[in-house]
Amino acid sequence: MLAMVIKRYGAAKDVLHAEHIAKPSAKVDEVLVRLKATSVNPIEYKMRAGYGRKVFTKKRGFEFPVILGNDVCGVVEAVGKKVLDFQVGDEIFAAPEVNGQGSYSEYRVIKSIYCVKKPDTLSFVDAASIPYVAMTAWACLVTRAKLRPGHCAGKKVLVHGGSGGIGSFAIQLLKAWGAHVTTTCSTKKIERARALGADCVIDYQQEDISHMTSDFDVVLDTVGGANEQKSLHLLKKHSNAHYVSLVIPVLSAIDNSGLLKGAIGSAITLMRKKRACKKNGIHYHWGMFKSNKDALKAVKDLLDKHEIKPVVDKTFPLDQLAEAHNYAESGNVFGKVAIEIH
Ligand SMILES: NC(=O)c1ccc[n+]([C@@H]2O[C@H](COP(=O)([O-])OP(=O)(O)OC[C@H]3O[C@@H](n4cnc5c(N)ncnc54)[C@H](OP(=O)(O)O)[C@@H]3O)[C@@H](O)[C@H]2O)c1
Repeated sequence: MLAMVIKRYGAAKDVLHAEHIAKPSAKVDEVLVRLKATSVNPIEYKMRAGYGRKVFTKKRGFEFPVILGNDVCGVVEAVGKKVLDFQVGDEIFAAPEVNGQGSYSEYRVIKSIYCVKKPDTLSFVDAASIPYVAMTAWACLVTRAKLRPGHCAGKKVLVHGGSGGIGSFAIQLLKAWGAHVTTTCSTKKIERARALGADCVIDYQQEDISHMTSDFDVVLDTVGGANEQKSLHLLKKHSNAHYVSLVIPVLSAIDNSGLLKGAIGSAITLMRKKRACKKNGIHYHWGMFKSNKDALKAVKDLLDKHEIKPVVDKTFPLDQLAEAHNYAESGNVFGKVAIEIH
């Protein structure tokens, strides 16, 4: 019931005050969050342009109006009776699975299973830059590439796009876990990528990665395209190496060809790529964001210990979302763009 109320009012232009909202139903395991900050991820400006409309409309259960925004960071304003681990006033961060409206709003109702207490030492804005990229990186590196959290000594990992949201987080996570990290980025961002702890930074505008030694255990590809074939050649053959791409065709294929044809076409493409890589003893994967509370808790510990630092390039107020999206798409960002909500 409460979720319905928020859905209706979330789109309203006027400021929505918590006192105007009914308390959560005893049946639901949800919290009402007064949002203090969120962030911009590429998925949001891509969705704004129609990307993934078929899948996301189905997941949301309605078409318009759509409030975008994946990262949640704020203060718990009300809790359902089944919620045992959070109380009013708790500061939380999260990136829930897409379901209902998003975080570019002042309030959002989410299931408490997605929430983790925000690190005390971080501002709302800094904390809001973390959940979506953290859980995406975790899904690629741990779930797909089978890296063991905290035990990556001796592993050589190539992270493409080290100056981006995912890359800037993944470099720090892997270094905290003991891996040897090589990353790629543009000339003007080299020094900042190095400052994140990367052992080796390749300027993709000056150097061709094809000439690098083929001794990587894992490649996390945030760029795709021609990068894919080049990266596959950099992995150790027949040594349990993994290639994980975040640039995957599933949602566009479904947008263009419909759910069934798009999903089947993508599954065939994936199968073919996996089979081709298997001949060289390489595991090929498509990575995808997956909300994962245990992963976010582990990341919170690393943030608490300052082993990972948020990388927020610029912060915009909620009423300048259009400018925030434009800036995020400009190619000038290092790390994340954050949105502050009052
Ligand atoms: N499948 C999923 O569930 C999922 C989840 C999250 C993200 N993604 C996708 O993953 C990609 C990365 O996400 P993000 O949040 O990190 O995006 P982002 O913040 O926009 O960063 C992308 C980075 O890629 C770099 N780049 C561009 N061309 C490059 C090249 N040829 N070689 C190396 N780096 C290059 C850019 O670096 P420079 O500015 O230095 O050129 C930029 O910093 C996006 O396409 C996003 O949609 C997919």
